[in-house]
Amino acid sequence: MTAVEAAPVGAPSAPDRRRVPALGNTDPALRAAWHPVLRLADLGDEPVAVRLLGEAWVVARLDGEVVVLADRCPHRLAPLSAGSVDRTGETDVLRCGYHGWCFDGGGTCTTIPALGPDARLPPRSAATTPAAVATHLGLVWVAPDAPRTPLPPDPLADDDRAAFLAGDLPTITCRAGAGLLVDNFLDMAHFPYVHAATIGTDEDPVVDPPVVEREGDAAMVVRSSHRFPNREDPEVVAGRRPLLQTRHVTYRYTAPFACSLRIDYEEAGGSNVITFFVQPVDDETCTIHTSVARDDIDHDPGRLAAAVAFEEGVVAEDLALQSAFVELALPLDLTAEVHTRADRVTVELRRILADLVGA
Ligand code: FES
Ligand SMILES: [Fe+2]
Repeated sequence: MTAVEAAPVGAPSAPDRRRVPALGNTDPALRAAWHPVLRLADLGDEPVAVRLLGEAWVVARLDGEVVVLADRCPHRLAPLSAGSVDRTGETDVLRCGYHGWCFDGGGTCTTIPALGPDARLPPRSAATTPAAVATHLGLVWVAPDAPRTPLPPDPLADDDRAAFLAGDLPTITCRAGAGLLVDNFLDMAHFPYVHAATIGTDEDPVVDPPVVEREGDAAMVVRSSHRFPNREDPEVVAGRRPLLQTRHVTYRYTAPFACSLRIDYEEAGGSNVITFFVQPVDDETCTIHTSVARDDIDHDPGRLAAAVAFEEGVVAEDLALQSAFVELALPLDLTAEVHTRADRVTVELRRILADLVGA
């Protein structure tokens, strides 16, 4: 008998856990994708430390350009985010706070003060850069390796942008799985239970089959229309419009963790657009960047603030459950969970992510 006992012939073999793929927050495959790391509005004159996929990066603005470097000085590995931007020279540089080494936006070391002005700088003196950096939809996006996914589309690209008033929710950092959060955002069957006190009031628990369209390997659009009691419509209150109205719902998903939701109200008019971009910070933590845009609030900042506060409440309801999950990785093996025809969208999410990570 060898040390490893063979399973009896004909018996089902024990599941090989290495073959049960689940997508954790720091899966190496996620390096080749775009991720949000910082709201542009939160980037001032000083460098800002951010974390992505368990790694530390520093974001700074040099000569008006947003640059991202590994938050680790190549000299003694001090965090560059503890340094400062030196704007006194011909070009801006990020200066390490420990021994003053300076780096340009491409990570090249331009100065080592201890060697004097004419020194030859060691070839390994450059700071590490990500493969790609972008500013998009009010956020800084980073792809540590060459991205295999596109940046998410602008959900207002086809709209008269001036008709909308938009506001950000406060950035939320919490214990969560990035895949689970996106799964939750795209899920239409949880409203009556998780959101019984907000958007789930009066919600029909039966999910109408949505239309799901893949857009390339890494994105999908989901559309559905349904009747709902519009209790917020003042015309309903005044008796001039029926209570039961129609809303058209469009979800746009871009792998790995970017979503938007658009709700167009047919009878009452108006659109409500919510973006939901998840930053996988480390194995157990995510940061959520969410915004709301409305064209039915007369550009009233007070009504926008109320809409943002309402959405904050909705997200808090979701996070109360999502943070309680024991296992934070999203199963990609379709046999690991029980799927029904009401889960068409979230099954497609798993397929897209499985393709992305090569599971
Ligand atoms: S650790 Fe950065 S200059 Fe020495
Ligand atoms: Fe929800």
